[in-house]
Amino acid sequence: MSRLKIGVLGSGSGSNMQSIVDEIEAGRLDAEVRVVLADVPDAKILDRAKRHGIPCQYLDCAPWKTKLEGPAEDRCIEILRDAGVDTVVLAGFMRIVKPGLLAAFPNRVLNIHPALLPAFPGVHSWTQALDYGCKVAGVTVHFVDGGTDTGPIIVQKAVPVLEDDTPETLHARIQVEEHKAFPEALALLAAGRLSVEGRRVRIDPAGTV
Ligand code: GAR
Repeated sequence: MSRLKIGVLGSGSGSNMQSIVDEIEAGRLDAEVRVVLADVPDAKILDRAKRHGIPCQYLDCAPWKTKLEGPAEDRCIEILRDAGVDTVVLAGFMRIVKPGLLAAFPNRVLNIHPALLPAFPGVHSWTQALDYGCKVAGVTVHFVDGGTDTGPIIVQKAVPVLEDDTPETLHARIQVEEHKAFPEALALLAAGRLSVEGRRVRIDPAGTV
């Protein structure tokens, strides 16, 4: 068991970060969010962090639009280390992270993806699921490896796709499950119940660790 010291990277509304903070504040997750970084200057995730007194800042990732690399990656690692972070949470961070960050926090970078991986990696996954004609969709929390949405899977939750769904209604249904899945995965990590064997994440039964 160890209290997680989390650094969050995000790009948008921050509802997943909020779900993690809510679980911590309710005493159900043994963790603290040490710092929040956003690659979008006016991202709502920064407002949410401020409301909870969590240190936060904009991280300028120029000149790249889709990845975290070079000086921005170095700066990111420096901020996370200075904050004492041991676990990096990608909560709606719309960039590919590169080997530098993964090497700085080995096996401690987690991502949430709004699809049942390995189906529909990339962006707007709920729209991809709808357009494909899927009858179920869902969410995956996984360790991040060198690929895009390819790392070992920790938690998945499924939702039905309904006849009258739009991309917005399906994404909203998926987000309800996202807000359970990320705290659940982090609680397993905090409890020392996760071990990675190749592609498989083993979850030790409660009480045996
Ligand atoms: C979430 O739906 C998350 O799964 C998705 O962005 C949204 C962020 O929402 N992430 C990705 O698509 C990553 N490929 P939030 O800012 O409210 O947490």
